[in-house]
Amino acid sequence: MDFIDLKSQYAALREDMNARIQRVLDHGQYILGPEVKELEERLAARTGAKHCVAVASGTEALLIALMALGVKPGDEVVTTPFTFAATAEMIVLIGAKPVFVDVEEDTANIDVLKLQAAITPRTRAIMPVSLYGQPADMDEINRIAAQYKLPVIEDAAQSFGATYKGRESCNLSTIGCTSFFPSKPLGCYGDGGAIFTSDDELGKAMREIRVHGQEGRYRHTRVGVGGRMDSIQCAVVLAKLERFDWEVRQRIEIGAHYDALLAPSVTTMKVRPDRTSVYAQYTVRVAERARFEQGLKTHGIPSAVHYPLSLHQQPAYAAGYADQSFPVSEALAREVISLPMHADLDEATQQRIVAAVRKLAPAPSKSIQ
Ligand SMILES: Cc1ncc(COP(=O)(O)O)c(C=O)c1O
Repeated sequence: MDFIDLKSQYAALREDMNARIQRVLDHGQYILGPEVKELEERLAARTGAKHCVAVASGTEALLIALMALGVKPGDEVVTTPFTFAATAEMIVLIGAKPVFVDVEEDTANIDVLKLQAAITPRTRAIMPVSLYGQPADMDEINRIAAQYKLPVIEDAAQSFGATYKGRESCNLSTIGCTSFFPSKPLGCYGDGGAIFTSDDELGKAMREIRVHGQEGRYRHTRVGVGGRMDSIQCAVVLAKLERFDWEVRQRIEIGAHYDALLAPSVTTMKVRPDRTSVYAQYTVRVAERARFEQGLKTHGIPSAVHYPLSLHQQPAYAAGYADQSFPVSEALAREVISLPMHADLDEATQQRIVAAVRKLAPAPSKSIQ
């Protein structure tokens, strides 16, 4: 059994995928070829954002977004500690400080009720993460940000294709950043990512920062990075777009089915009624995770932990947060575990997973707060 089945997806797309990759090999424009522009146009149209800039990875997308906003050493960026390291990593790399706000117990997304208290005169941006594929409460975050005239970067690495009040993730705030890492809901066959904005100036800045801050050939008007997404990876995403709407519907159906079948045995994460999740991960909480994990393995069921430590507990980041605690994030880090989730997960396999979970976790874990 696969945790994420990319082989069935490739089998379904093989002809178009191979033809698109072959076209790049034939025209030879490996960097900034026609596929890059085509993908940017398709993704901008899909999300409704005015600008889309294809970049080397989701990590690079966050870095370029922070650079375009002029975040500099000594600044603070408010974000969540319950996320993949890249979120905080790019803030630290720029010399700024991640200021963590604890998360909601039922969604694992930043707790907007605690957001305002984290804003100081040094705050330069707010960076919520749409974790596991479900957008955070973006309207409320934007409302608070507007009060302090702060930009909002949605780390939408896991949520491309999800919606919030009918609007598309990546186009819910000043800037949206996504990842096309192979296991993401919309993935390529290597590294890739994209940045979205409807602000013309930011769009121009991010496009230039992507190629070493060049306004024109060898005219460097700002400091940038080598952050392009290559034409072959763009061709891969273009091929995957043909099936993506179906995949999103499948993911939503499979996620809801898991919820219904598992709720009596384990604590499931909740998708709020005004949003959809693309379930980059289908994650539940269990009290005795190590035993549960081992049990799944014995049943031949792969699982993964997203994430085993809150970022303020990670060795590279802990120093700045010795006197702080984020109890919900810490508890989730002890209890979460992700089950196989992909658009090609069939009913029989899902039933096998559910039966094993029921056997291993007969009761939901207790509420954290
Ligand atoms: C929340 C989050 N942010 C950022 C990233 C970084 O994306 P990438 O792996 O494409 O650099 C990831 C993905 O791994 C992620 O899950």
